[in-house]
Amino acid sequence: MEKRIAVIEGDGIGPEVTKQAVNVLNAVAAHFGHSFQYTYALMGAAAIDQTGNPLPDETIGACLESDAILFGAIGDPKYDNDPNAKVRPEQGLLKLRKTLQLYANIRPVSTYASLFHLSPLKSRQLEDVDFIIFRELTGGIYFGKKESSADGNQSLDECVYSREEIERIAHLAFHFAQKPGRRRKLTLVDKANVLETSRLWRKVVKELAAQYPDVTVDYMYVDNAAMQLIQNPKQFDVVLTENMFGDILSDEASVISGSLGLLPSASLAANGLALFEPIHGSYPQAAGKDIANPVGAILSAAMLLEYLQMSEEAALVREAVNWTLLNSFVTKDIDPVNFYFTSTIGELICDYVSGKISGSVKRENIELRKSTII
Ligand code: IPM
Ligand code: MG
Repeated sequence: MEKRIAVIEGDGIGPEVTKQAVNVLNAVAAHFGHSFQYTYALMGAAAIDQTGNPLPDETIGACLESDAILFGAIGDPKYDNDPNAKVRPEQGLLKLRKTLQLYANIRPVSTYASLFHLSPLKSRQLEDVDFIIFRELTGGIYFGKKESSADGNQSLDECVYSREEIERIAHLAFHFAQKPGRRRKLTLVDKANVLETSRLWRKVVKELAAQYPDVTVDYMYVDNAAMQLIQNPKQFDVVLTENMFGDILSDEASVISGSLGLLPSASLAANGLALFEPIHGSYPQAAGKDIANPVGAILSAAMLLEYLQMSEEAALVREAVNWTLLNSFVTKDIDPVNFYFTSTIGELICDYVSGKISGSVKRENIELRKSTII
């Protein structure tokens, strides 16, 4: 197959983890006889530095002309620490989501037995954890009216949701809960005891539930969900929630896997366009050091392959990632003492995909590429 992929590396560790994801896509293309054509585009602080605009029109154009978008990370401390900054890197990503109508952000959370000992949670809480967060991505408080009073002492962020916005993502989540291998359970996370928008979410989801009689629906307040995610994460199958709650809960959920660096995500639009990005941020302290975890980006590439109907290819990438984790080939976020570099993990995953690593891998050769910083 021939596919066009827009690549937005973004800021901080974005470029180095995205590079590994692209290398893996190239290994997949070579192995399966596909051809991927990449168009690189700017967004975030990188775009502000070069053009003054966090989302140049060329970037939107490149995305619209592609079959899928691969994105790295966004954010730069020089803007974080300046509350008066008029232009911010994050505006680029938010505008891209809104412009392309990427309304459904899908964040799968799973655990790896080989990493149980590194998680702050106990092993018995980690077994059989496999859930997926459906986060609404183009509405709510992120996109409501924003105002500050003239004297700068009062500010407003409005949270608005419409029935249509809730229905379209709820349908996706219900369909997903019905897929083979799922447990047909959907949990709506809201704050319906306080917020009017949450009461609308509950009303709409309750109505839709009648169309999916084989899916069990339960409703959970977000504060309780934050606790339950840590206390008993295996109870969740499909979690459906609004924009801001989904942002917060998905970072929390990453702790279950062992590292924020492991989790991928997909953002889908109604017109069929989709963007794939790791859920982590730009981690500026690690930028350029070759220590960031590329797995979130590489698993995002696997989700991209799945979306392009390349299921076998996606499965091979996931198998390669599992193989590295199982063999303790991990980056510093997972093992601060015995760690491998970003590029080494990327190479190993590419080698696995290309069939260069068989069961009898020469571990000593790989050990040579291990960090010597202890
Ligand atoms: C995410 C990020 C973004 C968000 C930021 C960078 C605007 O945290 O994708 O989870 O809040 O949506
Ligand atoms: Mg976030």
